[in-house]
Amino acid sequence: MDQQKIQIFDTTLRDGEQVPGCKLNTAEKVAVAARLEALGVDVIEAGFPISSPGDFESVVEIAKVVKHATVCGLSRAVEKDIITAAEALEKAKRPRIHTGIGTSESHIQYKLRTTQEKVVERAVAAVKLAKKYVEDVEFYAEDAGRTDNEFLAYVCEQAVKAGATVLNIPDTTGYCLPSEYGAKIKYLQDNVKGVENVILSTHCHNDLGMATANSIAGVVNGARQIECTINGIGERAGNTALEEVVMVMRQHPDLLKYTDIDTKQLNAISRYVSDTMRVPVQPNKAIVGANAFAHSSGIHQDGVIKKRETYEIIDPLDVGVDHSSIILTARSGRAALAYRLKNLGYELTRDELDVVYPEFLKVADSLKEVHDDDLHRIAEVKHKVAV
Ligand code: KIV
Ligand code: ZN
Repeated sequence: MDQQKIQIFDTTLRDGEQVPGCKLNTAEKVAVAARLEALGVDVIEAGFPISSPGDFESVVEIAKVVKHATVCGLSRAVEKDIITAAEALEKAKRPRIHTGIGTSESHIQYKLRTTQEKVVERAVAAVKLAKKYVEDVEFYAEDAGRTDNEFLAYVCEQAVKAGATVLNIPDTTGYCLPSEYGAKIKYLQDNVKGVENVILSTHCHNDLGMATANSIAGVVNGARQIECTINGIGERAGNTALEEVVMVMRQHPDLLKYTDIDTKQLNAISRYVSDTMRVPVQPNKAIVGANAFAHSSGIHQDGVIKKRETYEIIDPLDVGVDHSSIILTARSGRAALAYRLKNLGYELTRDELDVVYPEFLKVADSLKEVHDDDLHRIAEVKHKVAV
């Protein structure tokens, strides 16, 4: 069976950047966009041009510099949003307008205060208008995660008829279970006429910690684009983390999906986005957290020293981390201590290690972590070996 390419749609600069405190200026956004392009993303969502003059300008500048990736601008299903997005994207080599409207009962009743019929009318009008400016129009059904599947399929079908090239199915509130989200994508595959001519896209939020699982369930069931952000930044608990979905597909060839992402750049771009947006990455964050390749318990350290794969499913080099770390704490065993001492140039005999290890434990009990300078002092104890 053929492997299938999954498009990576990065929305760090739109869904990610709208988080309080993450605001970037135009130069910073252009620099992030250049790195995203070098990373190999297929689509860069550069901003929401109607939202502010600054966002408009950023989309204009990003559209000028990006050479290969599609540059996308967000708009509501509102005429002036769409026209403004089209203006901002004028210089893009591959422009895409991303337009849409809420489709769930709560969005229709409480946010939009309208009816399903009117939502469909607005969706169709928005896609048709966007289509006058660009060939590539992505339609989003906001809160699709909580939208009745039959109505969702109907809106999507009308959007396809109106000219949409991509159908985005956002789990806006991060509510769905992976099985439910996967079934939703499958339902659309089976029930939207013309779906075979468009790309179905996932857009998952992480309120229940399931954004990555839901996105993968989406692609397993036929989605061909994943919307995501670097480090999973985004509204509330964030969006699907780019580095996670990319590595899931890489580490699971059984899924028969691949992306064009140069995974060796993942660690560097994670740090760059974290520094530029001033949002720290949690240490235990999958793939890019400081502890993602660190081992601190004795049993694990012993296994990793004997064979890395015992406790690591990813080669750190594949994501741009140059080695696994053996962290020395009071939970570390002799194997880890000998390994770290050897790296510092101390080759200890078994007897010497017997003398040094209790000394190490004394120091380790008083510290969170034993560092190289502590190790140099500890190593000197080996001279007390009885002869
Ligand atoms: O989460 C969401 O529904 C969105 C849409 C605007 C695409 O970000
Ligand atoms: Zn979103």
